[in-house]
Amino acid sequence: MRLRARAHATGIGGPPAQRACLTACAVVMAACAGPPAQPPVVGDGMPSPLTNLPGRADEGRRIVADRQVGLCLLCHSAPLPEVRFQGDIATDLGGAGSRWSEAQLRLRLMDPARLNPQTLMPAYGPRDGLTRVGEAWRGKPVLQRQQIEDVVAYLATLKAAR
Ligand code: HEC
Repeated sequence: MRLRARAHATGIGGPPAQRACLTACAVVMAACAGPPAQPPVVGDGMPSPLTNLPGRADEGRRIVADRQVGLCLLCHSAPLPEVRFQGDIATDLGGAGSRWSEAQLRLRLMDPARLNPQTLMPAYGPRDGLTRVGEAWRGKPVLQRQQIEDVVAYLATLKAAR
């Protein structure tokens, strides 16, 4: 009986007006939610693009080269001759588009720890479970979804020389 009373209070199984209101709320919330923060992982990849706009390889190249935005060259090197002092603790990104599919690249950017919990590579997508994050960065991913798509598009162009 108490259970029923509580269900009623939350509107579940309540009078038709309440039910209609709940349905309307659910529709509005679904429309506002957009694509899920973490699309499904399939195998070692994330096949669904994070945005409706296709990635722009030229923008991705700029993000990878920029030490203030992508920071990739802190650790990696890449075929970007204009950038001096590239990193050498991680791979050369040249040929990444031959080594990995776009789905694999997307997951490696979104959540590399999923593939190697010990990895030094930061997650560029949204992450839960962090503590002591500076106020300005709290709850924010390092790169926006569109930026991740742009970087994926750029990396996909980096085919190994034959
Ligand atoms: C703090 C160092 C660090 C930063 C910054 C970093 N990575 Fe990585 N990355 C790594 C390491 C280390 C690996 C090797 C994978 C592992 O640890 O299991 C890796 C692996 C990769 C791989 C798969 C290996 C390959 O080369 O095919 C790709 C692709 C990649 N990173 C892209 C990027 C891009 C793009 C950025 C910037 C948006 C970036 N990384 C930033 C350290 C870093």
